[in-house]
Amino acid sequence: MRIIVDTPENIARLAAKRYVALLKEKPNAVLGYATGSTPLGLYGELARLNAAGEVSFADAVTFNLDEYVGLDGTHDQSYRWFMDKNLFDRIDIKKENTHVPCGIGMTDEKAAGYDRQIEAAGGIDLQLLGIGNNGHIGFNEPGTPFGSVTHVVELTESTRQANARFFASIDEVPTAAVSMGIKTVMNARSIIFIALGSAKAEIVKKMICGEVTPEVPASVLQLHPDVEVYIDHAAAALL
Ligand code: GLP
Repeated sequence: MRIIVDTPENIARLAAKRYVALLKEKPNAVLGYATGSTPLGLYGELARLNAAGEVSFADAVTFNLDEYVGLDGTHDQSYRWFMDKNLFDRIDIKKENTHVPCGIGMTDEKAAGYDRQIEAAGGIDLQLLGIGNNGHIGFNEPGTPFGSVTHVVELTESTRQANARFFASIDEVPTAAVSMGIKTVMNARSIIFIALGSAKAEIVKKMICGEVTPEVPASVLQLHPDVEVYIDHAAAALL
């Protein structure tokens, strides 16, 4: 695990450089993307670099970590909508090369097909991750087995509360999601992890310094051979 502590602006720039380098070397790279407020700076930087002609996503393939169950891609809180608005509509990627799990009519059997799709595409070269306040990655809540593949997840009350800020009320926050499993994430060849802000300081400390346990899903990253952890000074405060 390589830990980089910097400002949010520099983190966006440094992380974006990884994409530029990877896509230069492998234009058809398979990229794992994440949602949440954390990656927004990076996505803005990728859009800027793409417009400036410094990187092209024309041959890239993407797989997103997760999606809410019950929201289709036209819902403005669906992760498909989020990705289109914040990244895919702003870069030269082919929409048909972008994958976000389907939130409608999803079952564990169908969800596992997402892993087969990733495998058929050659596996994920670079997976982006944020972290939930309870240590979740994707929507893998505490207790999720490390051997899990893409599956349907019941969201914890704390995750629903944390994400309620994006909805009109807590009642509108879906109670379930479909998420890549821990094993799916760990199969990525390289991982970029970003955490920003003081609210993440406690869980970042547990992830980096604590026991590797399914109770802190992100702690599994201690076992991955190629993870870059980008944290701002506020998120690094307890290290
Ligand atoms: C959601 C997503 C996660 C993300 C987390 C943190 O629960 N499923 O992938 O890491 O939110 O979001 P934020 O970056 O807004 O703190």
